[in-house]
Amino acid sequence: MAYDPAVAMDFFHGQPYEMWNVEREKCPVLQSEGSFGLGSGYSVIDWAHAESVLRDPATFSSAINMDHIGQFMGELIVGLDGEEHRTYRNLVAKAFRQSQLDKWDASLVRPLMNELIDGIAHLGSAELVRDVTAKYPVQVICGIVGIPKDEALQFQQWAEGINTGPIDPDAGFAAKHAMTEYLRPFVESRRAEPIGDFLSDLVHAEVDGETLADERLWGFLRLLLPAGAETTYRVFGNALYALLTHPDIMERVQADASLIPAVIEETLRWESSVTMVSRRATTDTEIAGCPIAAGSTVGVITGAANRDGSHFERPNEFDIARPPALHMAFGTGPHQCLGMHLARLELHAGLEIVLERLPNLRFDPTDSGPTPVIEGFAFRGPNRLPVVFDSVA
Ligand code: HEM
Repeated sequence: MAYDPAVAMDFFHGQPYEMWNVEREKCPVLQSEGSFGLGSGYSVIDWAHAESVLRDPATFSSAINMDHIGQFMGELIVGLDGEEHRTYRNLVAKAFRQSQLDKWDASLVRPLMNELIDGIAHLGSAELVRDVTAKYPVQVICGIVGIPKDEALQFQQWAEGINTGPIDPDAGFAAKHAMTEYLRPFVESRRAEPIGDFLSDLVHAEVDGETLADERLWGFLRLLLPAGAETTYRVFGNALYALLTHPDIMERVQADASLIPAVIEETLRWESSVTMVSRRATTDTEIAGCPIAAGSTVGVITGAANRDGSHFERPNEFDIARPPALHMAFGTGPHQCLGMHLARLELHAGLEIVLERLPNLRFDPTDSGPTPVIEGFAFRGPNRLPVVFDSVA
């Protein structure tokens, strides 16, 4: 065994890729009797089987995603299957239409990013996780919902309270109640008078005579920050880390902004923020010849699939010149990320503005803090990004 499981699987500081690479060579399915961070069950760590599990929702149900968090978040799109899921998804998908994305890019995303850079551009140094990436997607989601910027922190704290409900139920229920009461007037005002924004789209969405039931509307709103901000801010940090640790690529992208989409897609393959999604077997079945009993937990390790050497050449290298091969960072099948176009838009604006407005960006050579590193088992992002750049008055 070439890895230390304790180091590999530490929830906050884990480095799991070597473990997944070593184990994949032996078998694409790991039996995880309480290990591998997924409770007792199985983990799928190669591309082909990860893809086939995620594309077979009848055998591998998403209902498991409601198990612990459902009582705090409400009816979640990620926890439904079949027709119920399709109807829910068709309704909320309307709120992410292209014209809305274009509007957000110009009126919300770029102004927010420029404002964050205004705060550091004259300083010549910054810690980009603290000063930029951790703030940006949260503010974008709040802006989309219509929450004033100075109330974004409170909204974020409620989202965190809801998210940690399974380990602190009192705080979880209190946060759920507080967030709902805070949002209720916004929802009611859009119901009475739609103004063409995201919330108006959600409350008035109709497909084949169906509208979004109240519990689903609240469930969707409570999911937005964990699904849309926690994920995007970490990938933004991972992309910056990739460029800072590959100065040759940084130089090329600084000189040619048309390479930014390649940086985004390769970051999503190489180091996404979400490394796994969960399913439950609905029937006795098998994966790669491994028998799986009905009711078993099946963790699909999308991060490991993205490093499968039978699907990607030199999978552990960050290489923006790869031929476009679709990665699995946004999942695949019926639950594929609904916010992926928004995430790409935010990452594109974020990278473009950082590279343009912080010239000669590089790691701070005088920094004496912990070494910057991408870390985490199920969620991955950089611990810190201390940088210097040419300051602009
Ligand atoms: C880089 C950032 C992001 C990553 C890596 C990511 C990753 C994922 C993954 C892996 C899934 C599949 C879950 C499963 O199969 O069980 C998913 C679903 C989802 N994501 Fe994202 N996501 C990101 C950004 C966003 C954003 C910005 C939003 C919205 C504001 C969003 C909203 C959703 C929703 C609503 C679903 C559930 C879709 C469904 O169940 O049909 N995500 N995401």
